[in-house]
Amino acid sequence: MGTIRVSHLGWRLPGGDELLRDVSFMVREGDRAALVGANGVGKSTLLSLIAGDLQATSGTLTIDGRLGVMRQFVGLGNRDDETDHTKSIRDLLLSLAPQPIQDAAARLRTAEEHATAEPIRYAHALAAWGDAGGYAAEVLWDECSMRAVGLPLDAIADRPLRTLSGGEQKRLALEVLLRGDADVLLLDEPDNFLDVEAKRWLEGELANSRKTILYVSHDRELLAATATRIVTVEAEGSWTHGGGFAGYAEARRSHLDKLERDRTIYDNERKRLEDLVAEMRRRARISEAFAPKLKAAESRLRQFVEREERPVDIREQRINMRLGGARTGKRALVIEQLELDGLTDPFDLEIDFGDRVAVLGGNGVGKSHFLRLLNGDETVAHSGMWRLGAGVAPGLFHQTHEHPEWTGRTLLEILHDHDVVRGPAMSMLRRYEINGCADQPFETLSGVNRRASRSSCSSDRARRCCCSTSPPTTSTWCQPKHWKPGSPSSPARCSRSRTTAGSYAASTGSWCSAPTAR
Ligand SMILES: Nc1ncnc2c1ncn2[C@@H]1O[C@H](COP(=O)(O)OP(=O)(O)O)[C@@H](O)[C@H]1O
Ligand SMILES: [Mg+2]
Repeated sequence: MGTIRVSHLGWRLPGGDELLRDVSFMVREGDRAALVGANGVGKSTLLSLIAGDLQATSGTLTIDGRLGVMRQFVGLGNRDDETDHTKSIRDLLLSLAPQPIQDAAARLRTAEEHATAEPIRYAHALAAWGDAGGYAAEVLWDECSMRAVGLPLDAIADRPLRTLSGGEQKRLALEVLLRGDADVLLLDEPDNFLDVEAKRWLEGELANSRKTILYVSHDRELLAATATRIVTVEAEGSWTHGGGFAGYAEARRSHLDKLERDRTIYDNERKRLEDLVAEMRRRARISEAFAPKLKAAESRLRQFVEREERPVDIREQRINMRLGGARTGKRALVIEQLELDGLTDPFDLEIDFGDRVAVLGGNGVGKSHFLRLLNGDETVAHSGMWRLGAGVAPGLFHQTHEHPEWTGRTLLEILHDHDVVRGPAMSMLRRYEINGCADQPFETLSGVNRRASRSSCSSDRARRCCCSTSPPTTSTWCQPKHWKPGSPSSPARCSRSRTTAGSYAASTGSWCSAPTAR
């Protein structure tokens, strides 16, 4: 059991604009269907509709089987409570559990608070927790916690969720969903934030899973290794390629060619009918005998326009990042014996103007800590020395969307805060193809568009050194020397990045040491 049927689904944005129209597709039992499409086209919205978080404005949806959902901002909740900083790891695990377990947990939590005064109520809540499958879920969570973080559930359950890295949060959620008993999984960008080894793990898990899976991914390798069908959301509607990613480019070309042929047929027919009306009008001016023929021609044109819709023109998305920044001194960054407490051994590093340096390492080894430190966040516990070169102003693009101060502010207002006036701000947004969202509040943007808007703020101005976490675009390459023994990622899990860093260092001549386990 496990199918999804979506039929003529439509959804309008709160302002009334149509985002999705006539979306139809089917995911059969055991399919791994990839949902692809340009940024902001509505993929996450479509998954939210299927998950029941939103109500469709038209069409029907049928799901056979138990549903498991991983949202795009796993750990950060949905876009409405992104600023919720109080969540624990247990809250994440509960949010992935079936509703009866979530209800029993809420009841147990309240009963626990009054356990001394109302012991009977507490006993009943415990029994209800067991009946709902709570204890079985805890066994699963414990196993997944060991696999994802290397620690038992008891050791991490009450920790703030934010103490896990983005990749660890995703890995934990994926372990729970893939090992749980849901028949149908909806996974929104499951590979985001995963390190190379975890991506390989995910590829294997998806490829071998017997569940029915609908997932969003932008990773061609993951799509090639796992997708059995591909649903493309495009121009408000959708179309399906019934095979894997290998044949997708060809299928898309044929689809676009067919649309173009259909557009030509439409345009020709419309022109023929318009010409006929013009000709009958001309003749009717000369002779009244042509009046009925003019009426008939006008009526045919009207019916055609009402009945037929011109096939949409699909334009390729073109994003044009500018990460140049201004000229600085030759040496952009010097690090001497820098040690991130509990994460790395002391290491040295020098980065020159123009270098592109990638920081590689398993999830949770401290890559984001390192970049935050370079961005001036002195709360990152460390010892040793680091110094930016003359004229270097860092700009940090972070993997998660932590900008509570931007909530309620439009993109133009945010850029104005960065001293960018309307004209240049619009051209900046145009380069990321988000100029259409200029007056939209930040929190209502799609995930990718939020990333685009943040990069327009962090990289476009006079930034002369750009630190970027996660998106595999342009970033800084360097590698701390040794992983601490207690760090969550074992040396074996870093082997792939070790090779890459080594070969990169060799090819550019910049100093970079491969990590060695102690
Ligand atoms: N509550 C909302 N208010 C206004 N716009 C929204 C809201 N929710 C989504 N959108 C817009 O809908 C579009 C699709 O979003 P989303 O489904 O997240 O896209 P993606 O395909 O990148 O996953 C985006 O342009 C986003 O800004
Ligand atoms: Mg999305």
